[in-house]
Amino acid sequence: MIMQSLRGRLFLGLTAVIVLAGGLGGLLTYQWAFDEAIEMQDSVLIQIGSVLQHGAQSAPAETPLAGVDSDAEVVIRELGTAPRGAVADRQLWGFADGLRTDSLQGRPVRLLLRSRPDGSRFAVAQQTAIRNEIAGELAFRALVPIAALIPCLMLVTALVINRSFQPVKRLAAKLNARQADDLDKLPVENAPRELHPFIASINGLLERIRLMVDQQRRFIADAAHELRTPITALSLQAENLEQLLLSDDGRARLASLRTGMSRTKHLLEQLLALARYEMGRPGKSPLVSLDQVAKDVVAELLPEAVERGVDLGFEIIEPSWVRAELVALAAMIRNLLDNALRFTPRGGHIDLGIYRQGEAAVLQIEDSGPGIAPADMARIFEPFYRGGRPSGDGSGLGLSIVKRIVENLGGTIAIENIQGAGLSGLRVTVELHHECDARATGRQQAPAAVPAES
Ligand SMILES: Nc1ncnc2c1ncn2[C@@H]1O[C@H](COP(=O)(O)OP(=O)(O)OP(=O)(O)O)[C@@H](O)[C@H]1O
Ligand SMILES: [Mg+2]
Repeated sequence: MIMQSLRGRLFLGLTAVIVLAGGLGGLLTYQWAFDEAIEMQDSVLIQIGSVLQHGAQSAPAETPLAGVDSDAEVVIRELGTAPRGAVADRQLWGFADGLRTDSLQGRPVRLLLRSRPDGSRFAVAQQTAIRNEIAGELAFRALVPIAALIPCLMLVTALVINRSFQPVKRLAAKLNARQADDLDKLPVENAPRELHPFIASINGLLERIRLMVDQQRRFIADAAHELRTPITALSLQAENLEQLLLSDDGRARLASLRTGMSRTKHLLEQLLALARYEMGRPGKSPLVSLDQVAKDVVAELLPEAVERGVDLGFEIIEPSWVRAELVALAAMIRNLLDNALRFTPRGGHIDLGIYRQGEAAVLQIEDSGPGIAPADMARIFEPFYRGGRPSGDGSGLGLSIVKRIVENLGGTIAIENIQGAGLSGLRVTVELHHECDARATGRQQAPAAVPAES
């Protein structure tokens, strides 16, 4: 499992190198420190020998030396001027002056033999086992820093590896956080060089997806456009049929035929609009007076509101300027008001508000209809989704079109149900960027009548 992770592999590899290097270094250090300690003990023996040779009081026949660590067990043996006494003393007499390692009474010892000018001799002895033990202890202490360094290095390695992989994590998080329709290229600038090929591949893929999506949108737009002509021709034929003398049954059938055709026409118009706004609008849009466009759309829909017995009007209206295509802005308001009109019962009201809030120009539409069921809220912007209580003649594309237009304008849209005692309805709030200096520069684009989409 760990070998499938680059991080795991790097960590394992580097840890192995650290442990190996530490082990080898430790071994060499141990050996070196051990040899040094042995040499140091030899020089101690030599120093003791020098002190005893030149004028120091001769020590008792066999005594540990004062001043030398008692653990070192350095023993001095006076041998007199001629071989005498114990077997060991005679054996010692047999050795020449100098340092040697030999066996004394069956135990290996390090010996220093010296003769004084008066002919007397002495031996300084230390058991090899003790010397090795002391040297081993010292050498072992030299290993402590290396042993402590290994886990520290492993920790640093883990931290460095983790840090080095942060850009990969960030890239993945950025991709995960993207909206499905956000096909913008990933930036290469601050990414590590190793990631550039991946980013280039992902960008290539995004570009191919964008082309494919564009092709599909163009196909839908073209299909809707192509279907418009025959449907218009059929509508004309249906109108012509009306001039003929038809039976009551024939008239009823003709009426439902015309309704069906007008719904199909509406569906095609909506499809065309969605495809058009989904393709986005490149370039800078002109400055448009939001309040003026809203007034024009309301004027256009007022007869229908009167017919439906709905009170449609402005609650608040402030001059607000936005950068937008006039047709798109009007389509957005028209779709929202069309919904409000269709869902508000006779005797109800639809209130519009246009005001500025900080940097934003806000358009708010409140109706007194039934609102949207909470279960439908999450999917209400999906194309063709009409919720649990659709009204007869909708295609389910209006809110998708509105959302796409708002996004193209860099704004936001929020939909909520109006709640309170005896209250119901839907509140739609669209926030767009308000162009504050528009009035000062006097640039205005607000024709008397808002053109419909074509
Ligand atoms: N003001 C509203 N009050 C109550 N329900 C609404 C309101 N606006 C939208 N809805 C619900 O949201 C659904 C989707 O609306 P949308 O505008 O996308 O489609 P539509 O109105 O059915 O069709 P189209 O707008 O394409 O003619 C509607 O079918 C309706 O169920
Ligand atoms: Mg609608």
